[in-house]
Amino acid sequence: MRIARDLSSLRAEAARLGPIALVPTMGALHEGHLSLIRAARREVAAMGGAVAASIFVNPLQFGPNEDLSRYPRDEAGDLAALEGAGCDLAWLPSVEAMYPPGRATAIEVGGPSEGWEGTARPGHFRGVATVCAKLFLQTGARVAMFGEKDWQQLQVIRRMVADLDLPLRIVGCPTVREADGLAMSSRNRFLSPAERHQAARLFAALTETATALGAGQPAAAALAAARARLAAEGFGLDYLALVEPESLRETDSLPGRLIAAARLGSVRLLDNIAAG
Ligand code: PAF
Repeated sequence: MRIARDLSSLRAEAARLGPIALVPTMGALHEGHLSLIRAARREVAAMGGAVAASIFVNPLQFGPNEDLSRYPRDEAGDLAALEGAGCDLAWLPSVEAMYPPGRATAIEVGGPSEGWEGTARPGHFRGVATVCAKLFLQTGARVAMFGEKDWQQLQVIRRMVADLDLPLRIVGCPTVREADGLAMSSRNRFLSPAERHQAARLFAALTETATALGAGQPAAAALAAARARLAAEGFGLDYLALVEPESLRETDSLPGRLIAAARLGSVRLLDNIAAG
């Protein structure tokens, strides 16, 4: 696996490797990320070229009171994991290389950025969209893989790519879960053993709600019951909602996407599943 740390070596490697299937990450890799690398390998088998992954903890997508400084970092472990999963090129820009002094451009996506994570984390999707557009242009990727775990992020990226006519395809990949259903996330390591045990209830609540909706229960009642259950179980619920899958607008009809964000101790869990 080749490693590029500056833009000129990245461009030289990308020109040599041919069409790129990109997996953007912030490192602290787990099985969810490695499933994206394997999905990228399948894309490359069909189109030729190579798999690239970026590791960049993007300061632009963290708010002033968020966990940028404690975001887990393990460069050596990440590089070994990428190589083991079949990645050909790792792109590790510095903050200065990504955001040179004097930078004055950002990408603002409306529509699916609004509400939910957009409300809970003002500026978050501006940071995500800006860094992803830069990663797409820096690598010249033909295809990029994103996990469905961050459902709203996936819709924001799809909207940006469509609106800006960016010449690449976005592939959404299924959420990878622990045996008890908890969606894998780099932040799960901060859960205490008791919180870790409790965390699986979020997916269970989503599944129970989807089942109730599928059986014909009105959305308002099914959601209210699930919110009450989660609150009683000790979650600090930011939202649990049924939304249109692409626009993220709230809905009461199926098919939809059930999305949730809930706090357990210092960890904010995000999850979502299809409903209907
Ligand atoms: O999902 C993530 O890890 C990040 O938001 C991404 C897409 C790598 C952009 O920094």
